[in-house]
Amino acid sequence: MAKERIIAGLDLGTTKICAIIGEATVNGEVRIVGVGTAASYGIRTGMVVNIDQTAAAIRKAVEDAERMAGVKVGSLYTGIAGGHIRGLDSRGVVAVSHPDKGITDADVRRVLDAAKAVTMPKDTELIHLLPQGFIVDDQPGIKEPIGISGVRLEAEVYIITGAVTAAQNVYKSVNQAGRRIKELVLQPLASSYAVCSPDETELGVAVVDIGGGTTDIALFFEGALRYIAVVGLGGRNVTNDVAIGLSTPLDQAEQIKKEHGCSFLSMVDDKEKIQVPMVGGRPPKEVPKGLLSSIIQPRMEEIFNFTLREIRRSDYAELLPAGIILTGGGAMLEGSTQQVEQVFGMPAKIGMPQGVTGLADAIQSPIYSTAVGLLHYSVSRTDDKIQRDRYQLGPSGTFSKVKQWFNNFL
Ligand SMILES: Nc1ncnc2c1ncn2[C@@H]1O[C@H](COP(=O)(O)OP(=O)(O)OP(=O)(O)O)[C@@H](O)[C@H]1O
Ligand SMILES: [Mg+2]
Repeated sequence: MAKERIIAGLDLGTTKICAIIGEATVNGEVRIVGVGTAASYGIRTGMVVNIDQTAAAIRKAVEDAERMAGVKVGSLYTGIAGGHIRGLDSRGVVAVSHPDKGITDADVRRVLDAAKAVTMPKDTELIHLLPQGFIVDDQPGIKEPIGISGVRLEAEVYIITGAVTAAQNVYKSVNQAGRRIKELVLQPLASSYAVCSPDETELGVAVVDIGGGTTDIALFFEGALRYIAVVGLGGRNVTNDVAIGLSTPLDQAEQIKKEHGCSFLSMVDDKEKIQVPMVGGRPPKEVPKGLLSSIIQPRMEEIFNFTLREIRRSDYAELLPAGIILTGGGAMLEGSTQQVEQVFGMPAKIGMPQGVTGLADAIQSPIYSTAVGLLHYSVSRTDDKIQRDRYQLGPSGTFSKVKQWFNNFL
């Protein structure tokens, strides 16, 4: 019988903190066994701003997931996001040690180390080193160079960095909640593991995760992550606009948005009316649904226009035949795919977390894409040990200094 291994993902979102526990089988399947969520008050636009509040929410989410799963988890794959994240292209070149014998694993390590040695600003650290392709002598586009004969090996990589202080605050929060971080993972990269098929990432696709505080963009082409960007707006901005526009309290605005909101005005039947509770205990008002939509549409349009501008800044805007995959809670707004298709002129769909069994019903919402994706990411890393050791730099990689420093305190 296949031996199962317990894995856990922790999504630190602006509106909710979510822990998911899964069992990974040897053939790479993920069975969800526990889900826990807690409202998030200590995170703003993807970054921890209050450690006590974040730690308390992590503790609750993880304990709830553990109770459901009937297991304890020690360490969790944890998402990191925010405006401090940067993606940059780099390359490295080395001479192949034994050209006659072919390129070895050691050569690949050396070339990736060379590509990594870019000047990073002082207060940033490496989160991911993602090989894009190798060039052997003058032959480009090689995905797996080992064994190929050649004299000169060149690697093209995409490097994701983050601010050391932002990472420290994530470590502090998780550690204060009595847990350890197994590895920090870029949130939109994690989401894409849950919502994209290999065909889509191979063809070219944009994953747009509309959260509460930010909209995270990740572009994939020929199977690799090529470009990331963040727009500092999300569903919370829409809710604020509704609260102000309809003079209703924030929690009511949130509910009205979810129940009746539509970001595509032409889809709304203007004869339909909705009841809106007023601030300050004044009597509720009846307003046409079209009015609500006319508040929501411009804000969503702003988010999508910024998103499109970011995509156009990359070299991949014309290389996205698989279109746009919208995920995150903001994607659930009625009319969002239609609006994206109009603004972008590309096909769009909603990305739900996929590829899991067990309590799959409990995570059937785009708000769980990041947490579910962290489990898929965990499986891909541990299944492919060579990949992990070679590409993710082993123990000296991911936020190693910060991680070591914090784990010394446990
Ligand atoms: N049915 C719905 N219709 C419209 N918006 C929705 C719906 N459900 C959730 N949302 C919005 O989704 C947002 C939360 O999404 P999500 O849980 O993905 O964010 P998060 O991960 O906490 O935040 P972030 O990723 O920005 O840190 C909220 O702004 C909420 O209003
Ligand atoms: Mg999120």
